[in-house]
Amino acid sequence: MSGLQHHWDTYWQGKGGESQAVNAPEMARELAAFWNTHAGATLQGRGRARLLDLACGAGVVALESARAAQARSVGLQIVCMDIALEALLAAREGLSGADIVSVIAGDAGALPFAAGSFDLVFSQFGVEYAGLDALSQAPVVLADGGELAFLCHYKDGAIYAESRRNLRVWDAVETSGLLNLALGLLEAAYSADEGTGSQEGLHACGVAYRQAAEQAGALAQNSDGEAAQNVLRLLGDLAQLIRRRAAYDRDDARGWIRAQARSCAAVRQRLQDMTAAALDTGQVQAVLAVWREQGVNVPDPDALKLGDDTRPGAWLLKASRT
Ligand SMILES: C[S@@+](CC[C@H](N)C(=O)[O-])C[C@H]1O[C@@H](n2cnc3c(N)ncnc32)[C@H](O)[C@@H]1O
Repeated sequence: MSGLQHHWDTYWQGKGGESQAVNAPEMARELAAFWNTHAGATLQGRGRARLLDLACGAGVVALESARAAQARSVGLQIVCMDIALEALLAAREGLSGADIVSVIAGDAGALPFAAGSFDLVFSQFGVEYAGLDALSQAPVVLADGGELAFLCHYKDGAIYAESRRNLRVWDAVETSGLLNLALGLLEAAYSADEGTGSQEGLHACGVAYRQAAEQAGALAQNSDGEAAQNVLRLLGDLAQLIRRRAAYDRDDARGWIRAQARSCAAVRQRLQDMTAAALDTGQVQAVLAVWREQGVNVPDPDALKLGDDTRPGAWLLKASRT
């Protein structure tokens, strides 16, 4: 397994069949409604169609397309492709009611399909993670009469800004060394309780931990958003664990802090990936120019607004082959 695949597998582990593309459930519903409507419109007048959901994750786009196809009695053959096997397991489970579904593990930058294999090629916050070349080459698999639609992360848009804000908070937790220092303090406290550790050592660990907690806490207090709330909750949980350590098994307490460290690293990685994948106007124009060279029809890029935010939430990139 490649490093990249392993990283995304870790990300999808235990996530079940939900979309992980956005945090807010109302935004996920808005996106689902977008795909239901969009798939419905593109399926109109087709007796059957082949759909590729690229970088499908748990398959939410494919699922909405299957619903739209069923409502219009269109036979939809779905291929879900993702680099993460764990995501594909979730997609297969979520799509178990759909007619014909195949899941394929692979890199969206090296599509294993013949040219013109699909009538619909969709992706939501997915194919841009594979890079600009992957985005540029995607229309190759579009059949005559086919339609492609990608919702991609929008640099400096609403979701991007929220992710940057959350990333700053998690970066502060990382640089403060909070979880390592919590582990050190916990060990020193247990050792002092057992009479095997020194009070001076315990005091020094306490000072270092409190400094880190104050640093991370101050940033979280002054920031809005999911990360700030989670960091404040984490600080409360850590304080309680250390204070009430006698009530917990030492290995369990240690294991809990290590699990928090793993989970913080995973969230931070996800936010770093997302902000790095977001496309600016110049990148979008460069990709669309390559699409046009491939002979597909490409309207101007559009932007989808989500929720009450007036900033764009996502790029909507479309192409069709006549
Ligand atoms: C933010 S998630 C979005 C998933 C899904 N489209 C959704 O909207 O819920 C990004 C997805 O891209 C996948 N991915 C990342 N790099 C990829 C690559 N090079 N090729 C294929 N899939 C990739 C990840 O495994 C992950 O499932």
